[in-house]
Amino acid sequence: MATSAALILAAGKGTRMRSERPKVLQSLLAEPMLAYVLEALRPLFAADDGSDAIWAVVGHRSDLVEAAFPRLRTIRQERQLGTGHALAEALPTLRESGCTHVLVVNGDVPLLSTETVRRFLAEARGAAIAFASLSLDDAGAYGRVVRADGEVAAIVEARDFDPARHGPDTGEVNAGLYFLEVEAVSRLLPRLGNDNNSGEYYITDLVALGLADGLTVRGINCGADESLLGVNSPVELARMEELLRARTAARLLENGVILHAPELVRVGPFAVVEPGAELTGPCEIYGRSRVESAAVIASHCILMDSVVHGHAQIRPFSHLERAEVGRGALVGPFARLRPGAVLEPEAHVGNFVELKNARLGQGAKANHLSYLGDAEIGPAANIGAGTITCNYDGVRKHRTGIGARAFIGSNTALVAPVEVGDGALVGAGSVITRNVPAGEMGIARGRQKNLPRRG
Ligand code: UD1
Ligand code: CA
Repeated sequence: MATSAALILAAGKGTRMRSERPKVLQSLLAEPMLAYVLEALRPLFAADDGSDAIWAVVGHRSDLVEAAFPRLRTIRQERQLGTGHALAEALPTLRESGCTHVLVVNGDVPLLSTETVRRFLAEARGAAIAFASLSLDDAGAYGRVVRADGEVAAIVEARDFDPARHGPDTGEVNAGLYFLEVEAVSRLLPRLGNDNNSGEYYITDLVALGLADGLTVRGINCGADESLLGVNSPVELARMEELLRARTAARLLENGVILHAPELVRVGPFAVVEPGAELTGPCEIYGRSRVESAAVIASHCILMDSVVHGHAQIRPFSHLERAEVGRGALVGPFARLRPGAVLEPEAHVGNFVELKNARLGQGAKANHLSYLGDAEIGPAANIGAGTITCNYDGVRKHRTGIGARAFIGSNTALVAPVEVGDGALVGAGSVITRNVPAGEMGIARGRQKNLPRRG
């Protein structure tokens, strides 16, 4: 029985990006390029047990790629000697795992769609070597597909392409998506050379080698399918990101999300915005964020991995990361919710308030200029302007507890670990170092003296 795996070529540095970061980790809407490719392949290569038959060849800063994708199966290509060499390094592993066929795809195609790959696989069936081609107005740096009497003869890399030798440039190019029979290709790979203008071993040379050996080689033309476009430079990265952004904004509008300035709304591929939610651009909603129906996100907000429940409002210039905002809660303007910030329904967080690993109970309010870290604040508590939980003693973090309906006067420092009981009151300007029992008032500040004014 034929079993196939997918192999992503992701070892290259991406020299034309002029960046230290490996190209496949360059981000589009806050997700690395490689995440898009994996997402497109997964439905086709997933097994029932939740695993998948997807490998990636990694090399340049493989440590960073492996750290970003800890569950991805990787094969190291220590020296990046070309795409043909990358395949040669990976093939033994694929053979050992029992693969008879492999879908190979460049790691720099973030628009890749499952549908395109599915159609390609259907047309590739039966060939020893199949590749996808595109017909472009400007063939740029892509490998040129050379045909003789309509039949594929070779792929010639842009740097080696010479119309005098290879015929006119038809605009048909190699997309970087291949379906290969493992046994056949294993026989050809040792014959790849690097006697070309890049000094690299090209996967694309398999086409001419396969034809010379009488194998079935098929070039499958996918027209101008933009899902196969590669990213090689900052210009192309920005263009693809904008394409993805615009596509998502259009989909949200179609689904019934209200967008103001939709051209400035940036929603990542894994974020969910429910119909009936309202977003104003510019705003950025990334990671696994979820914005529920009837929630409102004003302009200049950034959400990362955060949940905003229905009827909550995030006012302008607020920043949320791994935070949860309950139903009907109000946040901002200028609020910062850091990881572990949880607002129960109807809670209010106002301007220049920062929460980290802190829960604000139902209807509780912290409306101005506060830092609440490692804190549990009960329902209907009122946190006055300038309240600070002093959670860090220079070595360790400590918790602050504030009870239901407690009232913390302005400019209070709560030196953790410390508890303010239910219904307790803290006088303004206090430095609270001991617990305040429920229902009592704590005040800790210098007593005011009024003296006669001198001369
Ligand atoms: C490649 C194709 C070209 C095609 C184009 C489509 C070759 C020789 N050329 O060119 O015909 O038109 O893609 O986008 O394949 N990589 C490795 N190891 C290496 C070198 C590269 O894993 O030693 C990876 C890169 O990380 C990248 C992919 O292979 O994801 C393609 O490499 P890249 O340098 O971008 O090839 P192109 O010049 O775009
Ligand atoms: Ca490329």
